[in-house]
Amino acid sequence: MEDLRRSGELRPSVRGDIVVQRTVGELWNPGSFDSLRRQLIPSFDLLYTCAAEAIAHSFGPKAPGGNKSVKVLDLGAGTGLVSAAIRELIPDCELVLLDQSEKMLAKAEQRFAGDDAIRLVTADMAENPLPAGPFDAVVSGLAIHHLTHDGKRDLFARILRVLRPGGLFVNVEQVAAPTDRLEALYDQRHESHVQSSGTPAEEWAAGRERMKFDICADVESQLRWLRESGFTDVDCLAKDHRFATYTGRRP
Ligand SMILES: C[S@@+](CC[C@H](N)C(=O)[O-])C[C@H]1O[C@@H](n2cnc3c(N)ncnc32)[C@H](O)[C@@H]1O
Repeated sequence: MEDLRRSGELRPSVRGDIVVQRTVGELWNPGSFDSLRRQLIPSFDLLYTCAAEAIAHSFGPKAPGGNKSVKVLDLGAGTGLVSAAIRELIPDCELVLLDQSEKMLAKAEQRFAGDDAIRLVTADMAENPLPAGPFDAVVSGLAIHHLTHDGKRDLFARILRVLRPGGLFVNVEQVAAPTDRLEALYDQRHESHVQSSGTPAEEWAAGRERMKFDICADVESQLRWLRESGFTDVDCLAKDHRFATYTGRRP
C-alpha cells in the first residue's frame, strides 16, 4: 500500500465550532461497513449501479473503442464498493483506490486479493496531490462531503487535471437540501428508510454521530462548481432525497 500522506500526524482542525479529527476514516468500522450499507443508504443500488453504468457506457466493453485498458481513480474508496461495482461492468479495468484510512483500504485489499490491476494509495485527497493520471474516470462514493466547500471546489479542479480529455467524473454523494423545509423532508425519508430496513438501533445512533462530521452541499451548487471548474455534460443522474449520483466530463 503506497502512502502519499505528507505526515502521519493526527492534526485536529476546526470547522465552525466542531473540532474535526483529520482521520474521518476512523469513524467507520471496516468489519461491518459493507453489510450495513443498504440498510443505512436509501436507494443504495440505484446510486451505485448508475455510477458504474455511466462509466461503462463511455468506457466499457460495449462502448465505441471499448477494448483499450481503462484506468479509474476511486477517491475515498473505503472498502472498495464503488470500485467493485465498476469492476462488474468493466472486468479488466485498472483501479487506483485512494483513502486516508489504512483500515478501510485493508478491507479493499482483501476484496481484491491477488488482483494485479488494483493499486491502493493511503492519502488525504484534500491535502495530498492526486495520483498522476491520466485517468479515464475518477469516481467517489460518499466521501467528498467530508471536505469543506472550498476543498470540494479545489478537488473538482484537480480531478479535471488528472482526467484525460473525454474522461468522466462520477460522484455518489450525500447532499444538503436547498431549504430547511426540504432538509426536514430528506431527514424524514432517511429515518424511515433506516427504520424499515431493520438497522440495529446502535448502528443508526453511530450513523447519526458520524453525520455530525458531514459538510454537505446542495446538488445545484455542486453541479455549478463542476461547470465553473471546466466540466461539461454535467448532470445529476439519480437522486433519492439526501443521496445523489452526479457526473461531469472533461471536454
Ligand atoms: C462513507 S465511506 C465511503 C467508502 C466508499 N467510497 C463507499 O462508497 O462505500 C467514506 C470514506 O471516505 C474516506 N475519506 C473521507 N475524507 C477523506 C479524505 N480527505 N481523503 C481521503 N479519504 C477520505 C474515509 O476514510 C472513508 O473510507
